[in-house]
Amino acid sequence: MNTHDKAPTKGILEVITGCMFSGKTESLIKRAEELGTTAYQAFKPRIDDRYSRTEIVSHNGGKIVCTPVDRAAEIGHRIKPETRLILIDEVQFLDEEIIEILNHWVLKEYHIVVSGLDLDWQGLGFGPMPQILAQADRVDKKFANCAICQSPASRTQRLVANSDDILVGGQEQYEPRCLKHHNPHSVKLAAKRVSQGGGSQGVADHVV
Ligand code: TMP
Ligand code: MG
Repeated sequence: MNTHDKAPTKGILEVITGCMFSGKTESLIKRAEELGTTAYQAFKPRIDDRYSRTEIVSHNGGKIVCTPVDRAAEIGHRIKPETRLILIDEVQFLDEEIIEILNHWVLKEYHIVVSGLDLDWQGLGFGPMPQILAQADRVDKKFANCAICQSPASRTQRLVANSDDILVGGQEQYEPRCLKHHNPHSVKLAAKRVSQGGGSQGVADHVV
């Protein structure tokens, strides 16, 4: 029997990923409940203050208390010896150091569950996510419904004329789309028009 064909059961990195509105945060909270340990610590990047500064909150209202961090290194410094489970939401916003930190704590046999966007509004790998996905022991990829055709959505359409990588927001700024209906090009055009003084900063979906 090949004893190496099973995923590790302790010292494990699980990743919950997918586009916006696919239920990632809800799944993170559910996973924490399933694992049933009270010895957990939860973190999220401080940048995401949409619903709460000190709680991880899903679009459907579920929540767990967490520590907001500015940099990945802070997570490493804050892990307590009695902790068994580490949860991180919105991991796409953290700096590249998170990759080494995840390896370090998996080696120390911690169970880690992170959630984050795999792709940004352009459909490109978001921050450290491509590497985190590659080194994960288990990946749970979520889908939403395309806002145009209702088929499974793997992309996030930005609806405003802004081409920054990071733009924190919800339904006013984004909607889920399938690959066929995802259109980053029109966002780029709208953002260019705004920067040239030829358009408003408003919703760009009429051009999408
Ligand atoms: P969510 O996946 O939990 O809904 O949140 C994703 C966050 O990421 C939300 O605040 C919007 C933000 N975001 C960006 O900053 N840039 C992007 O390209 C996309 C798609 C989302
Ligand atoms: Mg979320």
